Amino acid sequence: MTAIIQIQNISAHIGETVTIQGWLYQKTGKGRLQFLRVRDGTGIVQAVVFRKDVPPEVFEAAKRLSQESSLVITGTVRADERAPGMPGGYELSVSDLRVVQLADEYPITPKEHGVEFLQDNRHLWIRSSRQWAIMRVRATVIRAIRDWLDDNGFVNIDTPILTPAAGEGTTTLFEVDYFGEPTYLAQTGQLYNEANIYSLGKVYCFGPTFRAEKSKTRRHLTEFWMVEPEIAFCDLDGLMKVEEELVSYVVQRTLVDRAAELSLLERDTSALEQVTPPFPRITYDEALEKLGAMRAKTDSPQERELLEIEWGSDFGSPHETELTKLYDKPVFVYGYPTACKAFYMEPWPGRPEVSKSVDLLAPEGYGEIIGGSERISDPALLEQRIREHNLPAEAFSWYVDLRRYGSVPHSGFGLGVERTVAWITGTAHIRETSSFPRMVNRVYP
Ligand code: 4AD
Ligand code: MG
Repeated sequence: MTAIIQIQNISAHIGETVTIQGWLYQKTGKGRLQFLRVRDGTGIVQAVVFRKDVPPEVFEAAKRLSQESSLVITGTVRADERAPGMPGGYELSVSDLRVVQLADEYPITPKEHGVEFLQDNRHLWIRSSRQWAIMRVRATVIRAIRDWLDDNGFVNIDTPILTPAAGEGTTTLFEVDYFGEPTYLAQTGQLYNEANIYSLGKVYCFGPTFRAEKSKTRRHLTEFWMVEPEIAFCDLDGLMKVEEELVSYVVQRTLVDRAAELSLLERDTSALEQVTPPFPRITYDEALEKLGAMRAKTDSPQERELLEIEWGSDFGSPHETELTKLYDKPVFVYGYPTACKAFYMEPWPGRPEVSKSVDLLAPEGYGEIIGGSERISDPALLEQRIREHNLPAEAFSWYVDLRRYGSVPHSGFGLGVERTVAWITGTAHIRETSSFPRMVNRVYP
């Protein structure tokens, strides 16, 4: 028995005879020679089967292999600069090969496929090298987020998925029958974390959240993962500092740990290298002025219409896209109108029509990846907001209660994992950043 290794560690085994368990990715044959590109989940290696080096039945098996057949191969690792792979530069000279299952004709071939077809076959598409690379970046992004928060005094405390009330507006709630009573899939864990900070100081929850979003955009899923830090004794300025430190760490760590994947994805990493604190900050009012200036400059009536916005409205994708093009780093937009944001946001001192809210917009047109704010600390104002938003007072009585027992200024934010991964990987549509994305018109497979 030779040692089973992972392709990602192959450089440590030059000259050794090793075994790799995986799947056939691609094959080219030349009579006496078969070149098998084998992937094992950690990388891709070229395995060379020479007729004179193996028993005849092994060579025949190699010739018969179909794309995605599962196999166990044994061979000697050779360094060869020209060898393709992930990591490139290594080859396996095969001495033995066992077919675990000979795959049926595989529907996804190296040629172009339509996106509907690929989505219908997501259970297979996920094996393609691009999808593989995106998932590996996603795992690293999640790990980097956790590492930074854990190392900076935050306690991970997860919040319920089944909730009695809306956290982010009543229009995007998924209702679930809870023994005859309506409950809702969580849109956010924030409200629970506002309780948790009074026990633990700085906390974060990290889990799936749900929004019955009817919007068919490249930025919206109905199920997505969100990390939500919440911090006691923290104002809007402190919040932005945490956000820029966290996001910069995640980007820089991914650049190091997933350099090969980003290169496979043909990501322009020079844009990511610039993501270091501090990030530019502009107010909503300034953002509106900039949009107005862009509108005045453009000759295109369509663009003018697209960029139209009145004070009081939240930005749509086109506004965010254009704003981010003005900066080479993520940009904070803060001080949104109270009317376009959630019910729990602290008003701006002396300007109650403005909230102490901040969104972080990712560069290169990606737009909002974080939404956050300082929270209302006055119980009477909070009760008034709950009424104004037509929310059921009973369901929020525990939440108002928090303002009665040692209330402090506190702030928090939510970072969407899929949007962040889309930006870091340079993926145009968010659907490729979730293994099995849920969208308004898709819950299969
Ligand atoms: O801005 P949002 O709605 O903020 C909240 O949920 C707050 N409760 C967070 C907090 O303060 N604790 O959502 C936060 C982030 C967005 O910036 C975006 O990245 C992501 O969650 N997000 C979505 N991602 C994919 N599909 C959707 N439908 C999303 N809605 C929000
Ligand atoms: Mg938001």
